[in-house]
Amino acid sequence: MAEFIALIPAAGSGSRMGEDIPKQYRPLASKPMIYHALRTLCSTERIGMVCVVLAPGDTEWARHDWSEFAGKIRVFGCGGATRAESVTNGLKALRAENHVQDQDWILVHDAARPGLSRALVERLLDQLAQDEIGGLLAVPLADTLKRADDTGRVMCTEPRERLWQAQTPQMFRTKLLLEALEKAPAGITDDASAVEALGFSPKLVTGDAYNFKVTYPQDLKLAELILQERTATQN
Ligand code: CTP
Ligand code: MG
Repeated sequence: MAEFIALIPAAGSGSRMGEDIPKQYRPLASKPMIYHALRTLCSTERIGMVCVVLAPGDTEWARHDWSEFAGKIRVFGCGGATRAESVTNGLKALRAENHVQDQDWILVHDAARPGLSRALVERLLDQLAQDEIGGLLAVPLADTLKRADDTGRVMCTEPRERLWQAQTPQMFRTKLLLEALEKAPAGITDDASAVEALGFSPKLVTGDAYNFKVTYPQDLKLAELILQERTATQN
């Protein structure tokens, strides 16, 4: 039977956050940011292994105690220049060590999405385990969309029907994902785009706003509040 394996690309520098340490290590609710997604994925029973892809030369990971995840995580220092490269290198490392088979499911999740809940992971697994292609968590766009001109004034209002914001995890089988990423056009920012470029249509699975990506300094407060609430309600 196909297994479920999570892969967390954590080799970015967090340039938009503008801090000294990469944002995945920035303290949030008393832990490095990446801890929260790791905890959610490691505590999901159906997920057999969680692979973390660090930048070569990362010095932060080793400063923290990850022993509570021992036995479930594998760490590789093979991150690349882009997220797509980091995911590709991580997949190849897993394959080289015989941890994955072609038909196993890979759940790629950003280290910078600490608000992922176990309920969302379970929903993704339930809805995609029998799927032909795979898919991703995403949320339908709520706000009205404006397209700006060069001077920062509204040029037009864009229809938002059928528009979704992509989140992670994004879940595809090992073979398809590797092939897609290796052939992917430059500049893609998620795994689904690579699969789409092969002509497939990934399934959209409804996520929630808590699973947003921490990108700018102003996002930290909201992430902190979400994690505090989660700790208080133990979910
Ligand atoms: N990532 C990665 N390897 C890269 C670039 C990004 O593994 N070369 C990871 C990040 O660590 C993060 C996820 O991909 O977990 C999403 O990327 P993003 O939010 O863009 O993070 P950064 O690239 O670190 O931030 P920025 O774009 O602001 O520099
Ligand atoms: Mg980036």
